[in-house]
Amino acid sequence: MSALANAAEEPLCSSTHLRRGIPDFGMDADAALNAVAGRLRGGCRPERNLATFLTTSIEPEAHRVYRAYLNYNLVDREQYPAMDELLRECVRIIGSLWHGDARRVVGSATTGSSEAALLAGVALLRSWQARTRGELSRPNLVMGAGAHACWKKFCRHWGVEARIAPARAGRLALDGIAAVDLCDEGTIGVIGVLGSTLDGRYEPIAEIAAELDSLAEQRGIDVPMHVDAASGGLIAPFLDTELRWDFRIPRVVSINASGHKAGMVLPGLGWLLWRDRGRRRPELGIRINYLGGDDTHYELSFSRSAAPVVLQYYNFIRFGFAGFQAVHARSRSLARQLADRLHDTGRFRLLGDGSELPVVALTAEPPIKLRRLAMHLADRGWAVPVYTLPPELDEVEVMRVVARSDFTPEAVEDFTAAVEEFISTVN
Ligand SMILES: Cc1ncc(COP(=O)(O)O)c(C=O)c1O
Repeated sequence: MSALANAAEEPLCSSTHLRRGIPDFGMDADAALNAVAGRLRGGCRPERNLATFLTTSIEPEAHRVYRAYLNYNLVDREQYPAMDELLRECVRIIGSLWHGDARRVVGSATTGSSEAALLAGVALLRSWQARTRGELSRPNLVMGAGAHACWKKFCRHWGVEARIAPARAGRLALDGIAAVDLCDEGTIGVIGVLGSTLDGRYEPIAEIAAELDSLAEQRGIDVPMHVDAASGGLIAPFLDTELRWDFRIPRVVSINASGHKAGMVLPGLGWLLWRDRGRRRPELGIRINYLGGDDTHYELSFSRSAAPVVLQYYNFIRFGFAGFQAVHARSRSLARQLADRLHDTGRFRLLGDGSELPVVALTAEPPIKLRRLAMHLADRGWAVPVYTLPPELDEVEVMRVVARSDFTPEAVEDFTAAVEEFISTVN
């Protein structure tokens, strides 16, 4: 209490105060709350943040669920057995959405798709080492130019060569021929992406798998596939039911998705599912008995809140198949409308038109400069990223809009109006 009393005399969170390190004395809770809010003021409103794929809005009941379980540690399985069962239930639900064999699919909750990718990569590496009986020493992983940075992280940290198919004009996606060209005895796996971060397009997973089947038949090089379905994994099962991209394809051994993207959970949740226990690799399991039980852990991280997993389960029962379908269909339809409106200005070329991931990715016709447009939009509260494409196309600048579940028809109107306003200032 005396520390709190002293704190009242301290200036509120002045910059000198923090530059010294932790303040000598605390402050009362309201003051601390205000100080934090003051520090974090600025930036756009989350629903106007069109840069992120991550969930920015949830309904009040979902907030209540989330808050109620924030102080549960997900690794305390012995203490919260029902929580562990809830997690397994989520794995079963996702496994069935991805057409896995319910008796065989196993999975983990991770902090996001990045952790899932690292873990999937290690499992591919260990499988390859077992397959080649340690006789080969230079593993490589094949992916398209649009693969997410998490795969480059995996390669860098685990000493695996990243073999990246070069981008070609108008096409970032990996295809079967390009994948097979890069494969050899050292290839631990091929990554197919269901929904590129850069343009929102799906890679042709079934076609890549078919080419890899031919490679196995003709040259005996048998390469497994992992599908990075960070965003598409919880969209395609609802909207693209005929598309074969998942465990229906025998060559697909594992799949990841971000619960905190199309799973509509607040940040901090990814899913990684393997076709069966063997693909998870038993040697990756670490036995831990100091939490009260005797358990095997596969995840790379350890303690974290169980709240995202609970929220994922809540979403599954709250929305059901029809609800997820309706939410994502609406986002896709709005993304398509926005793409059409921007295309109709005659000033942009579409790389992604919202028909796969609800993402609009475009380049500008001269003299429109996307970075200036992004500044104009930022002045009106919209956050949109502008970036360059992979090395072979790095002179191409792209702007991307992600239409998440909180995107609205009004947002399409406002955003288009802001873009048109900018165009009118450029001759
Ligand atoms: C295709 C893809 N893979 C992986 C990731 C990384 O996901 P996370 O942010 O859940 O770690 C992303 C993020 O946008 C992504 O789009």
